[in-house]
Amino acid sequence: MSALIIDGKALALTLREAIAQGVQELVKTAGIKPGLAAVLVGDDPASAVYVRNKKLACEKAGIFPQEHRLPASTTQESLVTLIHQLNGDERIHGILVQLPLPSHIDTKIILQAVSPDKDADGFHPVNVGHLVEGDPIFVPCTPKGVMHMIDSTGEPIAGKRAVVIGRSNIVGKPVAMLLLHRHATVTICHSRTQDLPGVVREADIVVAAIGKPHFVTKDMVKPGAMVIDVGINRLPDGQLVGDVDFDRVKEQAGWITPVPGGVGPMTIAMLLQNTLESARRKAGC
Ligand code: GUN
Repeated sequence: MSALIIDGKALALTLREAIAQGVQELVKTAGIKPGLAAVLVGDDPASAVYVRNKKLACEKAGIFPQEHRLPASTTQESLVTLIHQLNGDERIHGILVQLPLPSHIDTKIILQAVSPDKDADGFHPVNVGHLVEGDPIFVPCTPKGVMHMIDSTGEPIAGKRAVVIGRSNIVGKPVAMLLLHRHATVTICHSRTQDLPGVVREADIVVAAIGKPHFVTKDMVKPGAMVIDVGINRLPDGQLVGDVDFDRVKEQAGWITPVPGGVGPMTIAMLLQNTLESARRKAGC
């Protein structure tokens, strides 16, 4: 048996077309063009690629992109000042600060400086709180994309056993909350989990967000399980691979997401979606 592939590229394309249409309608009906500010500090090459892709995606969707590239030497104070300016900028409905930030900057302080009303990444503690309560306003982009991919299969989530591997604030924790609110029985595994393979083998839905190439192997996956791979790892030979040993696991899983072309494109689509939703809220529609 070979797993069905959940095609993130195709799903993201469909979403992006709908978002572009939504943007046009908002411009026409309310005279509001959604705007997204992306802030990049330092010269991490991967972050630069992500921000460039986000900007291009905005342009294609008709969203006004505002890019702020700052040197690695930027002080925390001047970054906070910039964010406060963006908070007050009427043209901007979403603000994202690309992570990771240089080590001399306190990430928590920066994320808390973003107005919760413009928090397109959903990282502000106020938005984390709304998410935990089950009444989210901004849902973090990658977790939102993961849920869309699961839903695209038509498989119900309620009652299923879901195992999330990784406990980051960006992916692991929010994805676990979203699955919980959809009535899955959720376990979060991490570096200290005892018998991690045994726990993962129980799962109907596996979300791998651990950042280790090919960490999830065929013997860890229950036959027919759904496997969502959030990992993006660069091997020494330059190859891009996920956290899942795709070629082997696809022989065992019921559904699987590829890397590249899986969760990655969904993250960008959801960022656009969050920005559009924010602009709609501003317009009161
Ligand atoms: N770095 C890695 N993932 C993300 C993300 O989803 N948003 C931001 N802002 N930075 C990231």
